[in-house]
Amino acid sequence: MAGASELYWNVVSDIIVLLKKILLLPYLPSRHLQLLEKWLTDEKLMAGWDIPPFWPDKVKGWADEPNKVILMIEVAETGEVIGFVNFYEWDKKKGVASRGTLIDPKFQNRGYGKESILASNKYAFERMGLKRIELYVSGDNKVSRHIAEKLGYKFDRFDVKKNRYYYFMGK
Ligand SMILES: CC(C)(COP(=O)(O)OP(=O)(O)OC[C@H]1O[C@@H](n2cnc3c(N)ncnc32)[C@H](O)[C@@H]1OP(=O)(O)O)[C@@H](O)C(=O)NCCC(=O)NCCS
Repeated sequence: MAGASELYWNVVSDIIVLLKKILLLPYLPSRHLQLLEKWLTDEKLMAGWDIPPFWPDKVKGWADEPNKVILMIEVAETGEVIGFVNFYEWDKKKGVASRGTLIDPKFQNRGYGKESILASNKYAFERMGLKRIELYVSGDNKVSRHIAEKLGYKFDRFDVKKNRYYYFMGK
């Protein structure tokens, strides 16, 4: 009979097959701060996060916040850095963190967002030791809701005032 761990590794190897297009790299200010400045000050991208764009001088402080992990997304074939995934408000005792994702508009709708989320789920559960990943999506962000549901995030609640859907993965 196949044991739980065997099944688990089968699932993981399926995911590895899906993860051919991108690499996740640790955020390095000297290489990546300028990109974060470009993306986080972009009104349209930040509308996807349901927040106003950052003032440029606030980006470094945001990136350096404690309990945050930023994983930069690189296209495996070309080495271009096209976005990032971040985990924030990481409660190490509880093993809970929230996630955000951003893909440069030039590279959207090519499957990179989904792959990055899958790869970072694996990183979060296996390397960071998370038991639960939380995320919110604006009611206007149809793409993100579609992806969250497609990738198995569970619906938690809808906040009418904020027009935000909350999802989680794990316990
Ligand atoms: C959300 C975001 C990360 C998605 O990344 P991406 O690389 O464009 O996404 P993918 O190409 O992997 O997947 C897009 C999916 O949305 C679907 N989609 C595209 N337009 C859609 C729409 N209007 N309504 C519903 N689904 C849509 C695509 O068909 C695809 O799903 P499929 O695989 O089932 O066909 C990216 O658009 C982004 O960074 N947006 C700005 C910031 C943001 O909103 N971040 C997320 C906040 S929760």
